[in-house]
Amino acid sequence: MLKAVPLMALAFVALAAAACTTQTQLRFEPLTPSERTALIEEGREIATSQCGSCHAVGLADASPRPGAPPLRSVLERYDSAALTGNLMIGVRVGHLDMPLFEMGPRGADALVEYLYSIRSTNQQVPER
Ligand code: HEC
Repeated sequence: MLKAVPLMALAFVALAAAACTTQTQLRFEPLTPSERTALIEEGREIATSQCGSCHAVGLADASPRPGAPPLRSVLERYDSAALTGNLMIGVRVGHLDMPLFEMGPRGADALVEYLYSIRSTNQQVPER
């Protein structure tokens, strides 16, 4: 499912990076609504299958594992581009209890797009 789609993935990663850089010269086509929906759906599957045993992955559920913050709150504390990069290359983003993930650019991007979609302060999501 997470086989590489190198060019798209590069564009997504660059887009995520660009979104957090105020003076970027780079311009990318935004995702179309259907592309975004597909990416969010992919991210939801990853979150449910790989994070859901510990973290709440929905809009109002409680984390199964005490101490694991609901994923909807994660973007309040983590920069999305940094999180994408960390998930992609397998840097530990949480506690030592947390397994190490290496999900590749597409998976990391899908997951972060999903995190945006469930973000607790969704009304403040910048145009990306
Ligand atoms: C085995 C349980 C477990 C799994 C599976 C797991 N996590 Fe965690 N994660 C934790 C715990 C526990 C913490 C809290 C660690 C702490 O703050 O000391 C945490 C913390 C985090 C944090 C830091 C949150 C913050 O606000 O500081 C992020 C980001 C995160 N996890 C993302 C993920 C993602 C994304 C996945 C799935 C790809 C995942 N985790 C899967 C247990 C897990």
